[in-house]
Parts: sequence; structure tokens; C-alpha cells
Amino acid sequence: MAVLLCGGAGYIGSHVNKRLYREGYQTVTFDNLVYGHREAVKWGDFIQGDLKDQNAIEQVFQKYDIEAVIHLAAYAYVGESVAEPEKYYCNNVANTLNLLHVMRKYGCRKIIFSSTCATYGEPERVPIVEDMPQHPVNPYGASKLMIERIFRDYEKAYGMQYVVFRYFNAAGADPEGEIGEDHDPETHLIPLLLDAASGKRKEAKIFGTDYKTKDGSCVRDYIHVYDLGTAHLLGLRYLENGGKSDFFNLGNEKGVSVWEAVNSVKRVTGRDFKVVSAERREGDPAELVAGSEKAKQKLGWKPLYGEIDTIVEHAWKWHERKRG
Ligand code: UFG
Repeated sequence: MAVLLCGGAGYIGSHVNKRLYREGYQTVTFDNLVYGHREAVKWGDFIQGDLKDQNAIEQVFQKYDIEAVIHLAAYAYVGESVAEPEKYYCNNVANTLNLLHVMRKYGCRKIIFSSTCATYGEPERVPIVEDMPQHPVNPYGASKLMIERIFRDYEKAYGMQYVVFRYFNAAGADPEGEIGEDHDPETHLIPLLLDAASGKRKEAKIFGTDYKTKDGSCVRDYIHVYDLGTAHLLGLRYLENGGKSDFFNLGNEKGVSVWEAVNSVKRVTGRDFKVVSAERREGDPAELVAGSEKAKQKLGWKPLYGEIDTIVEHAWKWHERKRG
């Protein structure tokens, strides 16, 4: 039996792959390599393909006995999703329907899905718990919420069993330094700060300094990508043991402001760099912090690397290694 990782060549997917493989799972990564990296798939089998191509998905199910699917394949640039919603609804929603269709055809009923805190939109309070209202403010978040809804319906009608993970801000890199974050274009705060620390960028920007937060900058809940990997492993075991379909926030339950992230990067790297205040970025909620008690209670999840300095330290090691 094998576990299929759709989008397994991406940042989170490659860490999930390593985690599962190390635990003895046979993994198969299916990725179109639009944003993923072939060299990030160091474990298990790899097949290049796109979820828009149902035949390509079928070939995977013909070749392997797929016990469960971990579905991480998606476009995930919030700004782009506002400018090009069609791209997001086609790739994220319609292509997921293709995958679910083939899964049903081959009798595969277990899926773990990468959702996001962006499904909550501007939350009425923090920490955010799973049953709070979800009102996404951009097509990216909306596309993920649509899939969540599809799972509810597919469970009722077809017996699909799911674990949906709503990630908060994934960050950090493999503690052993084998894989890490490598987006092109890069829009995420921590890698951009590391670029400023290493001199690759001349300055770092703070998008908005007048939010009603502890220091005026946006607050986020940064969760180590290794801990996300662990959650997937536990989610898989949960489904294997007949666990009930459910939705889980994955975060550290700790708010870190942009200024605090800047200071952490300066502390960990030992480098100073220029930081400038910039306009607010459209669509950024002021504060997103997870309540993750449910994942801890039901899955036995315990994040290992909760400190922002540890997250930055691992990301920095990877950043320096990647630069050679
Ligand atoms: N930020 C800056 N300067 C930068 C880059 C980012 O100040 O150069 C700020 C952002 O405004 C935000 C925080 O740093 O307040 C984190 O920004 P990221 O772009 O790293 O992450 P986001 O919070 O925007 O995005 C993450 C996920 C998305 C998800 C979103 C939900 O990466 O997939 O959370 O809000 F949709």
C-alpha cells in the first residue's frame, strides 16, 4: 500500500514526504513542478503530472495500490488569486474534483487536505478555533473553503473520510538541513528577512505599522514545517484507525508580530539590516493566531519547535546552504 502526495514537491509536501517515508510508508509524489522542485523529492517515487489531467491521475492509481491521499497541490499566492481568480478556482477546486473522482473510482476513501487560516478571513477574535465563522476575503481562501465543503458532501454521499488541516503560517526548514522553503517569487516574511540579513535584498519592508496590535505590525502564528509534517503523519494514522472526518487548526497558539520576526532574524543571524515601514498589504488581517487544542487532543499532536528563534535558525541554515 502506498500514500499518494499530490503537490509533494512543494515546501510543505516535501517535508511531509520525508516524515512519512522515515516512518516506513511507501510514498508516491505526484507534482506538476510548476512551483515544486524535483530535487525536493528525495524520498519515495516521483511522477510528474497535473491534476487537471484525469488520465494521468488514473495511471498512478493503476500502478500503485493507494491507501490514502495527502493533497497539498494548490496555487497559494493570495495577491495573485485576487487578480486571477479563474486560475485559482480551476486549479484548486476543479482539479481537486478530478482527484476525488479518480479516488472514488479506485475505492480510495482517505484524504488529508491542506487548507488554510485564510478560510477564516478577518476573525472576530483570536485565538481562532475550528468552529468559528469562515468568511475568506480572497479567492485563495475561498477556493480552499469550497473544497472543505465538497468533503462534507462527499463524506455523506460517498463515504469519503477526511482530515482537513488549516495551516497557519508555515515556516522553518528541515532540522537536518536536507530541504527547505524555496518559492519563486518569494512573498513570505521570514525568507525575505533572511534575504535582507544575507545581503541578497537591500532592505526588509514592514507592511503596515498602524494595526491595532501589540506593536502596530501584523501578528501571525508561525508553525514549523517539521511540526506540520508530524501532524500529517498523525492524521494518517488517525484515518487508518477509523477516526472520524474532521477539521484541525495547525499553529503554535502564539502571536508573533512582524517586528518580533525582524528582531528574531537579527538575533539568530547576528546580522543587522535596513528595515523600512511600508503601506499595508491589501487583504492582510491584523492578527491570526490559532487555537490548536483540537489537534493536540484528538491526534496527540505536540509541536516540537514552537520558538520563533528555532524556526528562524533552521530556515537560516537552509538559506545559507542553498546559497552555497
Ligand atoms: N510581511 C511584511 N513584509 C514582507 C512580507 C510580509 O511585513 O516583506 C507581513 C505580512 O503583511 C503579514 C506577515 O508579514 O502580516 C506574514 O506574511 P506572509 O506573506 O509571510 O504570510 P501571510 O500571513 O500573508 O500568508 C500566510 C500563508 C498563506 C495564507 C495566509 C492567510 O502563506 O497561504 O497566511 O492569511 F493564505
